[in-house]
Amino acid sequence: MPQITIHSRKLDRIADASSACLVIPVFEDSPIADDLAQLDKKLSGTVSRALDLGDFSAAVGTSAALVGDQKIKRMLLIGCGKADDFDNGKQKKFAETVGRVLAAGKAQEATVCLERLGLDAKELAGLVEAVATEIVYANYVYTRTLSKPKNLPKLAKVYIAAGSAISANKTKAAISSGMAIGSGINFARELGNLPANICTPRFLAKQARSLGRQHAKLSVSVLGEKKMRELGMGSLLSVGHGSDEPSQLIVLEYKGGKAKEQPYAIVGKGITFDTGGISLKPGPKMDEMKFDMGGAASVLGTVRAVAELNLPINVVGVVAAAENMPSGRATKPGDVVTSMSGQTVEILNTDAEGRLVLCDALTYVGRYKPREVVDIATLTGAIIVSLGHEASGIFANDDDLAEALLAAGQRSQDRGWRMPIWQEYQKQLDSKFADMQNIGTGGAGSVTAACFLARFTEQYKWAHLDVAGTAFRSAPKGATGRPVPMLVEYLRARSG
Ligand code: BES
Ligand code: MN
Ligand code: ZN
Repeated sequence: MPQITIHSRKLDRIADASSACLVIPVFEDSPIADDLAQLDKKLSGTVSRALDLGDFSAAVGTSAALVGDQKIKRMLLIGCGKADDFDNGKQKKFAETVGRVLAAGKAQEATVCLERLGLDAKELAGLVEAVATEIVYANYVYTRTLSKPKNLPKLAKVYIAAGSAISANKTKAAISSGMAIGSGINFARELGNLPANICTPRFLAKQARSLGRQHAKLSVSVLGEKKMRELGMGSLLSVGHGSDEPSQLIVLEYKGGKAKEQPYAIVGKGITFDTGGISLKPGPKMDEMKFDMGGAASVLGTVRAVAELNLPINVVGVVAAAENMPSGRATKPGDVVTSMSGQTVEILNTDAEGRLVLCDALTYVGRYKPREVVDIATLTGAIIVSLGHEASGIFANDDDLAEALLAAGQRSQDRGWRMPIWQEYQKQLDSKFADMQNIGTGGAGSVTAACFLARFTEQYKWAHLDVAGTAFRSAPKGATGRPVPMLVEYLRARSG
């Protein structure tokens, strides 16, 4: 895909601009004023006549494309809603609209004017970053397995004119952060979208290794099945047992902080395809289970963004990758396995496999003495019943960590919602034949899944993100890259 570039541009009067597409934010309550009035005059009233028609309301999320002249070929009015109501959420929607409309258009170059919004330096930095992120996001198209790529965006170069309230250096820094986050999100989307015959556990390992080669502060190691067997990861290994693809435990160590500083850990469920195993899933929509490595993809995307942002903290990313298949060697309902922690598990349903790979990865990550651990998993269909596709479920054994993730989700507009992991739910996991069983006995399926994980995370501060409803969409079908925005924002806040 052609790589898009985004630059900072100084623009004293928008009427003097020259651009293939001038992007102009417009408030509902003051549509034509000052600089826009100058531009309108220069173009003999094109803008005011368009507004008088009433087709463009300037509500957030709306846009109107106008023809300009020789210098300003096109104008794109983007709605911003009411001036005193242009909060974080509206700004994010505005940025999304800019990205979406530019990516759908024919212009190869565009200039986004932000000065007329009248924001202060801090708000502008946030908005410039959001606009850069959304432009990179919107410019991603899946092409990898198409013989003739289609819908390739024409857009190649974008200028952001943020105005004089913010320095050129701060604008440039905000653009590169935005691009780093956008690239991290798109990396996660691409891994999610790839079919499971390409994106196998070993493919994920390869992607991680190649990421490691691109960043000096990042080192990557991969444990194969033999090593995992030596470590006693009987639970993780039971999931890939029916598959011809060997399971992989991928470890990414980013060292942006002091050598001895404790790391933040993120651990992703990397089921590259979830058939359900012997507890086979029904046929319809089973293809969507190629997205069951969304947690792993978000770990790789986040580590990539963290490295590009050069955050001054240490981060350990762990991916538990396996393929869940039925076969003569597959784990059967009723089988009992021993996890790395020593706890035994009766596997009553081989389709509840995410927790089985995660529990061993969570035990393993304990050796890094992490400050906090966040796992990310497309863990349960039940979380979609609870929260739909808007919020990721947040479960935590520590209030401060839960608050940090909720706040990071709010700021990045990649939101989560807290769910309980009360002791009362734990008894659903009691088993006659092992220390616990891998499914609950009825109700609150997302909670009992989290309760299972909680039994392996007592030694550290831990949160679990259930992203089954947010990591991908069925229509239009595709990976969203969530919760990379939330995770990057959380780690950025933790790095001060
Ligand atoms: N990968 C699925 C969860 C899932 C469902 C993700 C829908 C995305 C969309 C997970 O491995 C699973 O199968 N969970 C079971 C658990 C059950 C057997 C206790 C579920 O949710 O039905
Ligand atoms: Mn499953
Ligand atoms: Zn699964």
